[in-house]
Amino acid sequence: MAKMEAKTSLLDNMIGVGDMVLLEPLNEDSFINNLKKRFDHSEVYTYIGSVVISINPYRSLPIYSPEKVEEYRNRNFYELSPHIFALSDEAYRSLRDQDKDQCILITGESGAGKTEASKLVMSYVAAVCGKGAEVNQVKEQLLQSNPVLEAFGNAKTVRNDNSSRFGKYMDIEFDFKGDPLGGVISNYLLEKSRVVKQPRGERNFHIFYQILSGASEDFLCKLKLERDFSRYNYLGLDSARVNGVDDAANFRTVRNAMQIVGFMDHETQSIFEVVAAVLKLGNIEFKPESRVNGLDESKIKDKNELKEICELTGIDQSVLERAFSFRTVEAKQEKVSTTLNVAQAYYARDALAKNLYSRLFSWLVTRINESIKAQTKVRKKVMGVLDIYGFEIFEDNSFEQFIINYCNEKLQQIFIELTLKEEQEEYIREGIEWTHIEYFNNAIICDLIENNQTGILAMLDEECLRPGTVTDETFLEKLNQVCATHQHFESRMSKCSRFLNDTSLPHSCFRIQHYAGKVMYQVEGFVDKNNDLLYRDLSQAMWKASHSLIKALFPEGNPAKINLKRPPTAGSQFKASVATLMKNLQTKNPNYIRCIKPNDKKAAHVFNDALVCHQIRYLGLLENVRVRRAGYAFRQAYEPCLERYKMLCKQTWPHWRGPARAGVEVLFNELEIPEEEFSFGRSKIFIRNPRTLFKLEDMRKQRLEDLATLIEKIYRGWKCRTRFLLMKKSQIVIASWYRRYAQQKKYQKIKSSAIILQSYIRGWKARKLLRELKHQKRCNEAATTIAAYWHGTRARRELKRLKEEARRKHAVAVIWAYWLGLKVRREYRKFFRANAGRKIYEFTLQRIMQKYFLEMKNKMPSLSPIDKNWPARPYLFLDSTHKELKRIFHLWRCKKYRDQFTDQQKLIYEEKLEASELFKDKKALYPASVGQPFQGAYLEISKNPKYKKLKDAVDEKIIIAEVVNKINRANGKATSRIFLLTKNNVLLADQKSGNIKSEVPLGDVTKVSMSSQNDGFFAVHLKEGSEAASKGDFLFSSDHLIEMATKLYRTTLSQTKQKLNIEISDEFLVQFRQDKVCVKFIQGSQKNGNIPTCKRKNNRLLEVAVP
Ligand SMILES: Nc1ncnc2c1ncn2[C@@H]1O[C@H](COP(=O)(O)OP(=O)(O)O)[C@@H](O)[C@H]1O
Ligand SMILES: [Mg+2]
Repeated sequence: MAKMEAKTSLLDNMIGVGDMVLLEPLNEDSFINNLKKRFDHSEVYTYIGSVVISINPYRSLPIYSPEKVEEYRNRNFYELSPHIFALSDEAYRSLRDQDKDQCILITGESGAGKTEASKLVMSYVAAVCGKGAEVNQVKEQLLQSNPVLEAFGNAKTVRNDNSSRFGKYMDIEFDFKGDPLGGVISNYLLEKSRVVKQPRGERNFHIFYQILSGASEDFLCKLKLERDFSRYNYLGLDSARVNGVDDAANFRTVRNAMQIVGFMDHETQSIFEVVAAVLKLGNIEFKPESRVNGLDESKIKDKNELKEICELTGIDQSVLERAFSFRTVEAKQEKVSTTLNVAQAYYARDALAKNLYSRLFSWLVTRINESIKAQTKVRKKVMGVLDIYGFEIFEDNSFEQFIINYCNEKLQQIFIELTLKEEQEEYIREGIEWTHIEYFNNAIICDLIENNQTGILAMLDEECLRPGTVTDETFLEKLNQVCATHQHFESRMSKCSRFLNDTSLPHSCFRIQHYAGKVMYQVEGFVDKNNDLLYRDLSQAMWKASHSLIKALFPEGNPAKINLKRPPTAGSQFKASVATLMKNLQTKNPNYIRCIKPNDKKAAHVFNDALVCHQIRYLGLLENVRVRRAGYAFRQAYEPCLERYKMLCKQTWPHWRGPARAGVEVLFNELEIPEEEFSFGRSKIFIRNPRTLFKLEDMRKQRLEDLATLIEKIYRGWKCRTRFLLMKKSQIVIASWYRRYAQQKKYQKIKSSAIILQSYIRGWKARKLLRELKHQKRCNEAATTIAAYWHGTRARRELKRLKEEARRKHAVAVIWAYWLGLKVRREYRKFFRANAGRKIYEFTLQRIMQKYFLEMKNKMPSLSPIDKNWPARPYLFLDSTHKELKRIFHLWRCKKYRDQFTDQQKLIYEEKLEASELFKDKKALYPASVGQPFQGAYLEISKNPKYKKLKDAVDEKIIIAEVVNKINRANGKATSRIFLLTKNNVLLADQKSGNIKSEVPLGDVTKVSMSSQNDGFFAVHLKEGSEAASKGDFLFSSDHLIEMATKLYRTTLSQTKQKLNIEISDEFLVQFRQDKVCVKFIQGSQKNGNIPTCKRKNNRLLEVAVP
């Protein structure tokens, strides 16, 4: 139940107190107990006002999920339980909405969780600020710069497996909308001594191990490296592998991050080459060699490693070798070269390795800055995140620790200043009287270190620059003189004898009482480290490298830019950069995260009271609370205060109408809170003692319970009432519905009854009406029937009468007619019989004729001229008419038949007619010829080439061309001759040769003779005395006698206009020369078939036997 309630204040469900300011009583024990209690409940964050204390849980807690981010987004700082996200959100919103540049200062010991905290802040801001492809790329680059820097700048230490060995300050830049634009990273003092030597149980920088574990064989080969860690002197072996750290996987992450940040492939390559060179430098070893003049000299033991380094970096081997053996000192234009002994050579080697690596690291930061820097020139809002190495107290503390602790002093300084300043400003802003609070101000320690004249750093510089022999001891002596009187400086040898007998303080050490505790520093190495000396020969050798990155790392090696002035010392450089940082931070609104380490074992769930107590002490957290509480422990704006406590007073509960401040005044008066316990600011109420607040809280809790009961009571009442009202309302609704339903039913029943009644009445009425109507109808029908009968009777009577009348009239007329007829007949009897007879005869005749013709019409025979049918004669008296009619019809149909003929047919039929006229019933041969068509040209003279000559000789139209038998006049034998008839001549030609034998003009033909029998003989008689007649007449026999005779007759008629005489007789005379011979046809035997034979009997007789 409690868990489900949404939190509205950090005071809700609080474990211990969420804000130390409210701790009561306030002392170290209660402070630690509170932290412990919260830590045990996984509450790792606790506030001191607006400062967040973070205890490293050393295990992953489920409180950084995206849901958590959403929960804390846009919420007030004190609204939810303490969280680093609340601080991040507060900072981001005040940057975005109030345009205040912010800085997040994260402090604490090594391993306390600073770096993690800085990453959490950055990831929160990245999650809540603007979105979009471009913005996301910027975010991604900013976030991915972390793994790169951590690989090169972090290492495993005894306190932290991933300890940052450099200070880092990162400005994230935003535009006016709060979208990230880019960032700038500043780095501070990389702990470069780690490159060449690591304390026990610690490792070199991660990157060395990552390369050797994660790079491919190929890549290692390119870098001339071997995978085995033990091959490299610079890698501490005792803890080369760290539990839970996968160097190979991290190497991939780093390479990926480098790519995202924007490193080119060749840049990555160069970077790893430098790393490889550093690693290999450690393997160069020297051996002593004595020279004749007694000077010590060193020599490289195994030059193989040197050779490989030179190959990697492109340095001339001899140049590097010389730089390891000689040192050139230039003084007053003079160059003096001295040899290096073995120790010096090792010193030179290590210095080179340290410088190479630390310069590479600085170059990396610069390069990353180039990638992530904002692209626009618009005004930017800045959020700085400072993750600097924490206060360090080791067994052996050296120059580095001194510098680091100095930096922490400065941060504490700024913390004090800003916290107090803030507090003070708030009181002034709120118009509240300010009373001074006592607290320890560490300005005095800062002064001990950084004072320009008497500060430790100044003296170290002085010592370094001083001519003559300078050693760490001389430096300590100097300190003993100058700082002896300082309260926070302790030394055995100081003039002040306070520590003369302090055996815990060795002679070679000095001790400083830092704000966080006493630290004893070994003076050994201070001078060297401050000088940070790299022999010029080495930097020049590096500059000569063909490796462009290495060359760029050593610009002072350029002989053209030789600078005889000493470079600034490490101490002064650091001091300057810290000063700049402080200045920078002072312009920004600070947000503090103070990280605390719960144990030294990196273990979860372990809370070491003593260790925590120590940190609380040196972080000055109690003082922080006291300062915060010196004035007023708790402050809150009027509105939320009234909102939280208004239930405690009748006037303000449940609503206060009026200004919130007045409401709070009324409230506090009512509660009778003593006046010295609170004070009214302009916008906030300030509560002096936490007790008051807790009292208020208790009252609130009690009141809330009461109120809860009240609310429950009212709610129950309300619920019951609403339920009752609802039920009542429902009841009414149901009742109304039921009533409506019942009424509806009743109405339906009445309605149906009414309808039944109505229908009965209507039926009854209708039947009554029907009856009446039927009666009326029957009456009407009866009347009509009666009337009809009556009319019928009348009509029949009338009809009878009329008929009677008509009959009478008719009888009268008949009688009259008979009478008249009798009269007329009596009068005209004498004329009547004569006329009527003729007329009847004529009429009858006419009728018979008519009938006859009409019948004839239907009985007509066919149109064929040879059809002999003709209908029988009906009446004897029509005999002649009937015959005449037959004749006329025959003629008509013949004419019709003829009309169909073409001219050619006509010609043929004319010829046939001619033939019939000439030979019908005269010659027995004739009937056989009727069926034969007349062809004329039986021989095709023109077509047959045999008769070409003949054809050429005859130029007239040929009417007959036929082969005939010419009967020899002398013996009666037959010879074949071609018989030609033309228009004017008759020609005889030899059948074989076609030569013309004789030619007779038609005018000379006088007669043609033939028998009446069935033979083809004929004689052609010629005119007496004509030329052709000299040999006598011709006697021929032909198969086509009728045709030839007909054609001869017709041609002669048309040519000479004289009819050719055709004699048909069975005995005729022919003129053979001078003799007249008789040709006689006799009946012959059928010896030779049907062919007639011819025989000369004597001079006067030629006999033809016709079968
Ligand atoms: N909020 C945290 N949640 C879980 N583990 C943490 C958290 N903060 C720190 N740690 C653990 O503590 C280790 C040291 O933290 P780190 O931030 O590197 O310390 P510092 O930077 O202060 O030296 C981390 O590697 C991590 O394992
Ligand atoms: Mg760190």
